Parts: sequence; structure tokens; C-alpha cells
Amino acid sequence: MPEKQPETVTLPNLRAMKVRGEKIAVLTAYDHPSASVLDEAGIDVILVGDSLGMVVQGYSSTIPVTMDEMLIHTRSVTGAVRRALVVADMPYMSFHLSVEETIRNAARFLKEAGAGAVKIEGASAGRLKKIEACVEAEIPVMGHVGLTPQSIRKWGSYAVRGRDGAAEAEAILADARAVESAGAFAVVLESIPMELGAIITESLTIPTIGIGAGAACDGQVLVFHDVMGYTQGRLPKFVKTYADLRSVVREAAGRYIEDVRTGAFPDEAHSYRLKPEAAEKLRKGRPR
Ligand code: KIV
Repeated sequence: MPEKQPETVTLPNLRAMKVRGEKIAVLTAYDHPSASVLDEAGIDVILVGDSLGMVVQGYSSTIPVTMDEMLIHTRSVTGAVRRALVVADMPYMSFHLSVEETIRNAARFLKEAGAGAVKIEGASAGRLKKIEACVEAEIPVMGHVGLTPQSIRKWGSYAVRGRDGAAEAEAILADARAVESAGAFAVVLESIPMELGAIITESLTIPTIGIGAGAACDGQVLVFHDVMGYTQGRLPKFVKTYADLRSVVREAAGRYIEDVRTGAFPDEAHSYRLKPEAAEKLRKGRPR
């Protein structure tokens, strides 16, 4: 009997989950083994986030991440995934110059890297035109409003957005609505008050995926390395850590180093032996 293939997660599935009030679980992944284990665990959506610039490459922002890097990581992820929808993050300057260049770059994620959709940060008038154009070109787009990390040079910090005054909160609500009107199939709400997350979620028909936007969102996304306890240093308040990979890896690496230094590794069980005839020949032919 052929093995039963798991059903893949589609855009209509995600919309239906919102309607049914079923929460959507999203995590980032950047490589084949991580994506494969998340898919096995039953994650609905994997985001190949440009956060890889910070958690994998060690930059202080996502600004330096390139299209080529995103394509390589996206391909590594899609090759491992059987069920989850894979969304590729469009990096800074891949969707800023023109509608035409945006479509060309977005399409590369689908054609060359096997992604199911792309994510575009922001909701300015120019950005909305690009979202519309991608959707028109059959490229599903996930929006991203609230704190948009690619705008770090403008904001100057990763502080919570829309917290202090009604005007900024209303602007974020308007952004989310505009992204929906432009044709996005879902929208990430990042670092906004939970009350605003709830209002936006109620106002939209597309799923909202929160990261620091409260429990009312239709789904939640976090960064793999943060969730697994693999990130070095302080984490944002919204992160919940479910494992302590740094300790696991540090302890395992420590034991390995000790074994190499003492000669306990490699032992017989982890070494090869010559076949008996070859051993004999080698012994006989060896100059004394
Ligand atoms: O790049 C990323 O990982 C993201 C998520 C944090 C939403 O955009």
C-alpha cells in the first residue's frame, strides 16, 4: 500500500480555520531539518522569515538580508515540508523599487524555491499597489503591519506600536484593512496591544497572525530559535520558550570535547575494521 500523503495546508484551509475559530500555528524555519521536524509536529504554516538575518546570520537587524539568501533558505525549507504552507519573507529592497521588480522577485520564491506564498511588510500606498499586483499575478501575499522590522531605521527601536494614542492604533487598524482590501490572504500583526489585536481580528475576514499581538488573533507566529531556547541574549516579552536547546547543545558539545580529548571517542563501535583478508595482506606486505 502506498504511504498516505498528508493533506497540504492551503489558503482556503486557513480562511476556513478562522471561520471555525480554530487557531493557526505558525513558526519560522530556515533550514531543512528544522522545517522537517516542525512539519512532522503538525505546524500549519512555516514562515521563512528574514529574521534569519538576526537569528542565523547574527546581524543586528533584518536590513542586510538578500534575495539570494532568502531563496537558498526557502528552498531548504520547502524540500523538507509535506503538509505546512511555506511562506517566504520578501527581504528589504526586494519590493521597494517598482511593481515589476516586486512581481519578478516574488515569483522567484514560487518558481525557484517552491514557496506557497510571500510576505510583504507595510501598507503604504505604494506597498498596497505591489500587494495587489502580486495577487493579480497569482502570487499569494501575507501582509505584515504594526511593528515592521524592516522599518527599524525609521522607528529607531523595536518598541510596541499603537500603544500610546488612539491615532496610531487607528492607523494600524487602517493598515490591516488596506492590506486585506489589496488582496492579502492573511496579515501578521506584530508588537501591538492585545486589545488592538482583538479589534483588528474582528474587523477582518482574513486570518490575523499575531506576534506580540495578544490571544485574540486567529493564529500565532514566533521565531524558531526564540521558541526553542537557541537565541543568545534577551528575548521580547511576547516570546514563550518551549525548550532549552542552548543548554542541550552546550552539554552535548562539552561531552564530545571531553571524549575527544581523553580518547574515549571514537571507540570500537564508531570505527571501521578492515575485512580479515585485507588485514592479513596489509600485515604481510607491511615493511618492517
Ligand atoms: O522575519 C520574521 O521572522 C517575521 C516574523 C517575526 C513575523 O517577519
